[in-house]
Amino acid sequence: MYIYVLKQFNMNKPNIVDRKPFLFEAEPGINYAWCSCGLSKKENGAFCDGSHKTTDFKPHFFTVEEKKKIALCMCKHTGNPPFCDGTHAGL
Ligand code: FES
Repeated sequence: MYIYVLKQFNMNKPNIVDRKPFLFEAEPGINYAWCSCGLSKKENGAFCDGSHKTTDFKPHFFTVEEKKKIALCMCKHTGNPPFCDGTHAGL
């Protein structure tokens, strides 16, 4: 199974978790770690669970100044991480 997963994952491109954003209400004072590799299983792949360690990808850390709703990129191809910028529409 492990060998099969490695063959399926292109080490140069992130794994597409979903082709739509994850709508999330972020709280101030929390350091969030958005998954950039697309291999995490935490919060349906939205947040880092350490799965990137076998890749060159790193989590993208972010905070918010006030409580607000944000759209986290789940295709992992956004040009403005960790936020959805619409790139998923062209994948
Ligand atoms: S989910 Fe929209 S740009 Fe990735």
